[in-house]
Order: sequence, then C-alpha cells, then structure tokens
Amino acid sequence: MNPWSGQARMVHVQEVALRDGLQSEATFVPTDEKIKLIDRLAASGLKKIEVSSLVSPRAVPQLADAEAVLQGITRLPGVIYAALVPNVRGMERAIAARADEVNLVMSASESHNRSNLRMSCDASFHAIKEAASLAASAGLRVTASLSCSFGCPFEGEVAAATISMWCRRLQDEAGIRSISLCDTTGMAYPALVQDLVGLIRRTYPALNLALHFHNTRGLGLANVFAGLDAGVIHFDAALAGIGGCPYAPGATGNICTEDLIHALEVSGYRCGVNLDALIETAADLEKLLGHTTPGQVMKAGRRLGGHVDDKPRFVDAKPILDR
Ligand code: COA
Ligand code: ZN
Repeated sequence: MNPWSGQARMVHVQEVALRDGLQSEATFVPTDEKIKLIDRLAASGLKKIEVSSLVSPRAVPQLADAEAVLQGITRLPGVIYAALVPNVRGMERAIAARADEVNLVMSASESHNRSNLRMSCDASFHAIKEAASLAASAGLRVTASLSCSFGCPFEGEVAAATISMWCRRLQDEAGIRSISLCDTTGMAYPALVQDLVGLIRRTYPALNLALHFHNTRGLGLANVFAGLDAGVIHFDAALAGIGGCPYAPGATGNICTEDLIHALEVSGYRCGVNLDALIETAADLEKLLGHTTPGQVMKAGRRLGGHVDDKPRFVDAKPILDR
C-alpha cells in the first residue's frame, strides 16, 4: 500500500528495550531506573511496552526484578504492559504480577530452542499451550513469539514449512491469534520477508502478525518496509537500538525505535508517538548504560525539512539530463 495516497496509515510500534534490550546488557540496570524508563516511554505515546521477562532469574539475571518493575510502573490507560513468558511457571508469575499481556516464546529452530529454553520445540509448544489456557482463564492478552523465523545461528535456513506448521499449531491448537515472527539474529532480508509474510498471511488470514527484526547485518529497516509492503503493521523495536539474545551467538541490537519511527514518519506513516521525547529518552538511556548505542537519529537529529506528505517535490523536477 502506498502511504502517500490518501490518509496516512497507522503503524504500531511495540517497545522491547526493557526486555530484549536489557537482557543482553552486561550490567544490571537498577529497578527504579527501569520503572522511570517505562513511564517515560508510555508518556511518549507508545501503546505497547514489553517491560520484562518472567523467566528463570538464573537464565537472565538482568531481568530478575520483573515483579518489582510491574509493581512500580504507573499504568497509563490504553497502554499494554507485556512480559515475555517461556513456561507455566512464568505464566503464574505474570498473573500474580498483573501483566496485561504475555508474550509466549518458543523458537522455530530445535537447536536454538534447546540453547535458549533448554527444551525441545515440542516441549515448548506444550508449555505455551498450557500457559495460553491459563492466560485465557485469567483474562490476560496473549501473543506468541517464534524466534529464528528467518534463520537460525546454529542451523542456518529454517524452512518456511516449519514456520507455517508452528503458526498453524499456535493458532489452531493453542488458540493464539497474534504471532510475532522474530528475526533473532538478523538473518532476514527483504525478499525473504515478502515471501514468508506473504505465505503466512495467505495461509492464516485471521492471524494478527507482528515482525521483530534485529539490525545485526544492517537490514533491519529495509525488512520493515518489506513487511509493510506485505501488509504487516505491527513491529517490535528497542529504544536506542539495544538488544540481543544471550543464548544466540552473534546476536546484536534490535531495530531502533526512534530510527524506525523517524523512517516511518518521513515516509508518510503515522505512529502516534512523540519522537522528540523518545530521542531524549534514548540519549538518557545511553548515559545510563554507560556506552554508545546503535541509534542513529538520536545522534544526527531529525531530517530537516518536510516529509513526503508535504508534496509535490517530484512533480516539477526535470530529468537530470536536461539541466
Ligand atoms: N520463572 C522463574 N523461575 C523459573 C521459571 C520461571 N518462568 N521457570 C523455571 N524456573 C526455575 C525453577 O523453579 C527451577 O528453580 P530451582 O532450581 O530453584 O528449583 C529452575 O528455574 C530450573 O527449572 P527448570 O524447569 O529445570 O528449567 P531449566 O533449567 O530447564 O530452564 C527455562 C528452562 C525456560 C526456565 C530457562 O531456560 C529460561 O528461563 N530461559 C529463558 C531464556 C531467555 O529469556 N532468553 C531470551 C529471551 S528469548
Ligand atoms: Zn529479539
């Protein structure tokens, strides 16, 4: 769809810096700093924030304070505060801590699932199914994340048929309506995004699809635009571009939230987020972490001038050869 024609199209950006970002930081960010960050992100207009993981604190010590974080935040109406959950134990914690939504995670790759979650894909699926049914009875929203959907750092290609099979089982057997296809180690490229998203959308038209890209090989935003062309309007991103999976070799940052929003807005999409506020928060996050981060717009500033909606920059332009 062309965003330049008619009304600007809304794109939903889901913030994952507090989870996917902080899980790969060497140092523990104090709980009160996490809470302040989440409150600022919500105030800047983001409508879904993944605030932590309810996983084994031995597996991800950086997020061992998940309950305290969920308890300390100021919940803005209309904002969904989500947490990543790998098993039933995590689901019970999510219910007790009053998460709005659980992101039930498994990998499409057997080797990555065993490295990350210490069980087979099948065992993860059964854990997800049980957790999803608990969530339904407790009234929590549910999404599932399928890691390594675009390739695996251990196995290489992951067959489209495998992704399709997990989408079918998650939808039909576990009753999950929202699935995020995750590019855990930045192996996606635009043609693959178009192909895989096209296939999944045609096969499961009722599924609400989101895409989760890492910029490991510099293709993050190109993949987003391929996803938009394929009809997806939900994307994960992390403030300042931090992030990575501690159990996948070579994993680096997520696509950067403020860079993504900037790219979408100059292209005529709308995200409903205060970009200037977000840039300020990203700069403060960099100070807090004590190292530089991959975010680019926070260093370069916004593009000066209008965006594509301001028209008609191309209409009067003469072909270069005439000048
Ligand atoms: N929250 C808190 N503790 C949990 C837990 C959860 N969701 N799930 C398991 N545990 C605890 C168990 O109670 C047990 O504690 P104990 O040793 O004190 O009795 C311990 O963890 C081991 O439990 P077990 O079921 O044997 O898990 P495991 O060691 O096989 O690990 C996972 C499986 C899934 C819990 C673990 O691999 C994990 O948390 N992985 C998450 C990794 C991650 O977040 N990666 C990045 C995001 S994709
Ligand atoms: Zn990720």
